[in-house]
Amino acid sequence: MLKFIGVLGMFLLLATPGFASGDLESRATSIINQKCAMCHSTKRVYRNKGRSKQWWTKNVKRMREYGTQMTDEEARTIVEYLSK
Ligand code: HEC
Repeated sequence: MLKFIGVLGMFLLLATPGFASGDLESRATSIINQKCAMCHSTKRVYRNKGRSKQWWTKNVKRMREYGTQMTDEEARTIVEYLSK
């Protein structure tokens, strides 16, 4: 019984970040679809997924300089998602 609770606890611990990242994905992709598809396709965005946080921070800063309207919070959300 104790072993079962231990396993259950581990499962919940492992499952929680999974849930959080699913939520991040849906928030980030909706921002990207709304804000980043005006000048080029989102393919251009997703092709670079997994690049470093620094790369994305610089990139998003540049895109905002080009005129992308987004809040700092939205920028952080997509940088977080795209650098994973
Ligand atoms: C106002 C127009 C505009 C919007 C909106 C825009 N971009 Fe861009 N984007 C550009 C231009 C122009 C280029 C090509 C020149 C360059 O790379 O600086 C580009 C290029 C890119 C590249 C390729 C860079 C490389 O080095 O390969 C990525 C990635 C990118 N954009 C991501 C985004 C993301 C993420 C968003 C939403 C936050 C976004 N863009 C919104 C204009 C825009």
